[in-house]
Amino acid sequence: MFLPKRSITKENPYKICFVCLGNICRSPTAEGIMQHKVNEKNVQSYFYIDSAGTAAYHVGERANATSREIAEGHGVALLSRARQFTHHDFKEFDLILAMDQSNYTNIMALEPTEEEAKKVMLMRAFDIAHINEDVPDPYYGGLAGFEHVFEMLERSVEELISQLEDYIDR
Ligand code: 4NP
Repeated sequence: MFLPKRSITKENPYKICFVCLGNICRSPTAEGIMQHKVNEKNVQSYFYIDSAGTAAYHVGERANATSREIAEGHGVALLSRARQFTHHDFKEFDLILAMDQSNYTNIMALEPTEEEAKKVMLMRAFDIAHINEDVPDPYYGGLAGFEHVFEMLERSVEELISQLEDYIDR
């Protein structure tokens, strides 16, 4: 498992970018859950959390209304505006988490250096019950799909935080 291999301080926070296709459903939900949980644990100063999409279709838009509704039902606000993932993000972030295999392929098509490529993982590398499975795109499905996505993201984010917490140097 890839881990940060450095201490996480307020001066040098750990930077994570969640990535999906449109940046309106899955990755904003992951971003919102992560922000919510680090706030709850009062470790928000140690993290910089963002999300992006590999496609530009929805740039500037708020998260999908159903994604926001489901998240709000769990007490999580989705506040992001969609943006497209860029090559600069390989430098900017410590960890880049692709929601599915197709997002991963799209990210790798931008030709990161060998070192930068090591920062890219699948989101569900952190879903212990379903290692490296895809986070399915809920966009064309019903409410149950959005709820299912929320739950798998919540499990994955909890495991991710528990692994990163060991590196926080308070
Ligand atoms: P996301 O879902 O990748 O989870 O944000 C999608 C949203 C929009 C589209 C595809 C996926 N779209 O094709 O417009």
